[in-house]
Amino acid sequence: MTAEKAGFDHFMLKEIHEQPKAYRDTMRGRISEDGRSVVLPELKITAEQLKGINRVHIVACGTALHAGLVGKNVIENLVRIPVETDVASEYRYRSPIITPDTLVIVVSQSGETADTLAALREAQRCGARVLAITNVVGSSVAREADDVIITLAGPEIAVASTKAYSSQLIAFFLFGLYWAQTIGSKNESEVAHVLAAMQALPEQVEKVLAQAEVIKGVAESISHHSSLFFIGRGIDYAVAMEGSLKLKEISYIHSEAYAAGELKHGTLALIEEGTPVIALLTQEDVYEKMLSNIKETKARGADVLGIINEGHEVEVAKSVDRQFAIPRTLPLLTPALSVVPLQLLSYYASLALGHDVDKPRNLAKSVTVE
Ligand code: G6P
Repeated sequence: MTAEKAGFDHFMLKEIHEQPKAYRDTMRGRISEDGRSVVLPELKITAEQLKGINRVHIVACGTALHAGLVGKNVIENLVRIPVETDVASEYRYRSPIITPDTLVIVVSQSGETADTLAALREAQRCGARVLAITNVVGSSVAREADDVIITLAGPEIAVASTKAYSSQLIAFFLFGLYWAQTIGSKNESEVAHVLAAMQALPEQVEKVLAQAEVIKGVAESISHHSSLFFIGRGIDYAVAMEGSLKLKEISYIHSEAYAAGELKHGTLALIEEGTPVIALLTQEDVYEKMLSNIKETKARGADVLGIINEGHEVEVAKSVDRQFAIPRTLPLLTPALSVVPLQLLSYYASLALGHDVDKPRNLAKSVTVE
């Protein structure tokens, strides 16, 4: 077992460190040699069919759903088609509006989650085409979906998903770009621009991982708290939700993710002297708004860790207690970098508390009952 961990103390830490490789493997062969277009020969959906899609439902559970929340931002931004996301266990019980022009995207690391599989079947029964994003070739979800994009994250052993989530993000970037180039919502040079930034991600993750010690220190201090908040706006909010789930899963510390602008409508009442707040501020268009949201929490005594873009260190230092800078990328791609410090934060917090990092209480890697 120790050998399988390749020298790491836990599978989760190993899998966090495997993300640069998972990104490279998931992109390999899917970007044209000239770097100007996405190639997805595995898709059976035709250009004509893609042109006819007028709404998207993304359905999944847990961490895979959080990848779907990023996917919603990606598709709406690149393709300009409305996307709804749904918890798989809710989807088929709420009579979702599914037409033949709806594309349902199910996301599942294992491809065996019962709720996700049931949602897939319901979508097909209602006449929708289903695209699966999964990590397991030959899984139930992969076999039953109409189209499949396999993430090449490699086997994920730790219950808390890390490299599978981030590889799902890569799959959404690729599919969003493929769709955009097919219908012409982005031109060739716009697609090439995003692809170039994507190809830089693996090396940028390596830079993030090299700063793991900074996060370790923060994790040890938050491990003494019983409640904390993750805040962000837009795509940062989607990542905040994943950061919060990861922390709950393996450290058992209560946390909530909040859209930063919503804090003032109730949640600020919970912020008191020393409450840890993890604030993501990687989105330039809402940067000033985020700074003022952070100040609102600081004024109530919050202890703030900012996850920021490189280059903002000096300015942000005035508003936060500690900060962690991620390398510069396009706003849409930031989740592939900003999630990494949050994964490390939950890992080190769990470790500091002496929990079983790889096998948290009450949770299973794959839930095959509804
Ligand atoms: C379980 C795991 C989660 C996972 C979820 C969905 O609850 O503990 O980590 O996100 O299932 O799993 P899937 O295999 O469908 O991605």
